[in-house]
Amino acid sequence: AIERTFSIIKPDATRRNITGKVLTLIEDAGLRVIAQKRLHLTKEQAEGFYAVHKERPFFGELVSFMTSGPVVVQVLEGENAIAKYREVMGATNPANAAPGTIRKELAESIEANTVHGSDSPETAPQEIAYFFKDEEIVG
Ligand code: CMP
Repeated sequence: AIERTFSIIKPDATRRNITGKVLTLIEDAGLRVIAQKRLHLTKEQAEGFYAVHKERPFFGELVSFMTSGPVVVQVLEGENAIAKYREVMGATNPANAAPGTIRKELAESIEANTVHGSDSPETAPQEIAYFFKDEEIVG
């Protein structure tokens, strides 16, 4: 089925000026960008977005990294988009990511791992709604 998923191009990618390279890998996989904006997340926005991880030992580092520079938030649409984008991203730790994936080709570390994507059909609409109004999404 045609699905929508939520994506963040993280501060390590905006810092290195490689958002276009990330986008090429997304589009080459057949996913379409149907909403996109560049933001500098506040601490409150990052903490709220990653609330599910707040008991993890890396939570503080994660929030400080995600607020360290601009991000690009996106809605991606396509056949089986949620699982497909997870494949395109590759494993969370770039050391374990398959060749050709965004994280293998472009990421710096498990923290500076270039992209985030929704992990399930439950989280995708919640994450999209956290950043986008309906009228900002043009499918
Ligand atoms: P993301 O998909 O954005 O969801 C949570 C993020 O936490 C994850 O990508 C990683 O960037 C980060 N993360 C996960 N595990 C660790 C870890 N062990 N150390 C630092 N960051 C981590």
